[in-house]
Amino acid sequence: MEELVIESVKLDDERDTLIVLDQTVLPTSESYLDLTTVEGVWEAIYELKVRGAPAIGIAAAYGVYLAVKQEDDSDRTGFIKAFDKAKTYLASSRPPAVNLFWALDRMADRLKKSAENQASVPEMKAALKEEAQKIRDEDEEVCKSIGEHALTLLKPDMGILTHCNAGTVATAKYGTALAPLYLGHEQGYNFRVYADETRPLLQGARLTAWELQKAGIDVTLICDNMASIVMKEQKIQAVLVGCDRVAANGDTANKIGTSGVAIMAKHYGIPFYVCAPMSTIDLECATGEEIEIELRSDEEVTEKWYETRMAPKDVSVYNPAFDVTDHTLITGIVTEKGIVYPDYKTGLKEIFRP
Ligand code: MRU
Repeated sequence: MEELVIESVKLDDERDTLIVLDQTVLPTSESYLDLTTVEGVWEAIYELKVRGAPAIGIAAAYGVYLAVKQEDDSDRTGFIKAFDKAKTYLASSRPPAVNLFWALDRMADRLKKSAENQASVPEMKAALKEEAQKIRDEDEEVCKSIGEHALTLLKPDMGILTHCNAGTVATAKYGTALAPLYLGHEQGYNFRVYADETRPLLQGARLTAWELQKAGIDVTLICDNMASIVMKEQKIQAVLVGCDRVAANGDTANKIGTSGVAIMAKHYGIPFYVCAPMSTIDLECATGEEIEIELRSDEEVTEKWYETRMAPKDVSVYNPAFDVTDHTLITGIVTEKGIVYPDYKTGLKEIFRP
């Protein structure tokens, strides 16, 4: 896998500071935020400075560590209380991403084990730091593995369409849906990638186009409403997207517009693949009906990217941030353990078996 230089979320060990690539100012500026408080991490997640399901999970894991690292070393009960408070607080930052809860629960499990082993407060702090680091390092491995599996689905010179950003900035490294593109690029696959701009927050234009171009991959930016024409013109041989939550039956929540792309792909007979780390698969959630959709501010649609407002004042706006792609539209779900095909109910359960 090509050595990628972008690291969107990592701990500066010496300064005990979380370094986050500010995704809201890309591509004009590549600037990094120094986060030292749980409030800072909450805000970075809420405002999408750090975004993408895996990156959110990693930031939250470090966030609970930062929240408790200054706690009194002699007060065990106070320490555990402070952890629980920080965990609840961070869980409210961006609920649609299941990785947020997954990472926070993993941190809580680690703390519980340390406490059961009669660890001291400094030992519990060290355990939390280590667990956050593990979550980050594992994500890198998981993404690499997703990339390798997904690449088996692709052929040289293919045209690939992707929506939103499921790339290296959305994860510890490599990305999920973009991981096979980096891997294939290194092996001379010569992909032609079409990136949907992804209204209203333009993750495709600002992030996917930026990171693929930076890696030297042939990328063409299109507006969201151009996906159908590029499919019709046979420029696309496969669609690859990331996800924020996969239900037990394979229904998949991802950035708004994904389900429309899947419907079009089905119409044109193009395979539609979801790249999903197992941390994003929620077997507790039976179907997409149970996935809560985040509603965001009107201003993202009416004025955020414009010098002057582009909609009449006071017009009502509906701005759901995610939609759910029905499992019947998904050709395969690529995980770090391999590719799951329908029937997803059985296949997804299977990959969780030890
Ligand atoms: O609102 P965003 O930008 O956080 O939405 C992100 C997505 O929809 C991504 O596709 C998803 O988190 C997967 S990132 C590997």
